[in-house]
Amino acid sequence: VAVEMVHAYSLVHDDLPAMDDDDLRRGRATTHIEFDEATAILAGDALLAAAFEQMASASATAGTVVECLRVLGRAAGPEALVGGQCEDLAAERGGDQTLERLEAIHRRKTGALFDAAIRIGGLLGGADEAALATLARYSQPLGLAFQVVDDCLDHTATAESLGKRVNKDQARGKLTYPGLLGLTEAKKLAKSLVKDSLSSVDVFGTSAWRLRWLSTFVLERSR
Ligand code: IPE
Ligand code: MG
Ligand code: MG
Ligand code: MG
Repeated sequence: VAVEMVHAYSLVHDDLPAMDDDDLRRGRATTHIEFDEATAILAGDALLAAAFEQMASASATAGTVVECLRVLGRAAGPEALVGGQCEDLAAERGGDQTLERLEAIHRRKTGALFDAAIRIGGLLGGADEAALATLARYSQPLGLAFQVVDDCLDHTATAESLGKRVNKDQARGKLTYPGLLGLTEAKKLAKSLVKDSLSSVDVFGTSAWRLRWLSTFVLERSR
């Protein structure tokens, strides 16, 4: 729940006029359109603060809860989500249009929250260091794949199916995978990243079926 609150806040703010300026999210008017800009800013602030309150209420030992709070704070902060969003917007205004820069943006703005969600699940589930390392090898390619697919869907989906505006990234001058590699290569990359995530959890055997389902969903989703 705490991770989803951070995710929801990040989208409310991502849609603001000062950021991606979107009016449609999950098939409904974005928060600043439905209400107003101040309300959207404050709703995001509230979700972010409440996420940490929620995380702090997890039923686990104090040490585990503190570690989960640290993981979530890092993923939401300047090293990761917020820093990635800054770079995403800076890239609209120019600078190097390289794969290296793009991968760093996507790992920070999107991948890091996947890493945190998976690691927090592991921590609360009592995973040992080896299992946590395996989970990181699962979440890293998966989080990147999610954003590569997000970039592709902006080109291939309809607003009706996706529940948000399409063909916006190019118009805004975003640095994206289909923009740099073309759609075919971008889709191939997403597939290969998802394959990497799947093979990393082989060691867990059949008990990793939910993680396998999630990987397949990330690749095949249409919304
Ligand atoms: C959003 O990336 C990343 C975060 C909210 C942290 P996008 O800007 O590509 O997401 P959409 O396309 O608006 O959903
Ligand atoms: Mg954005
Ligand atoms: Mg956006
Ligand atoms: Mg997008």
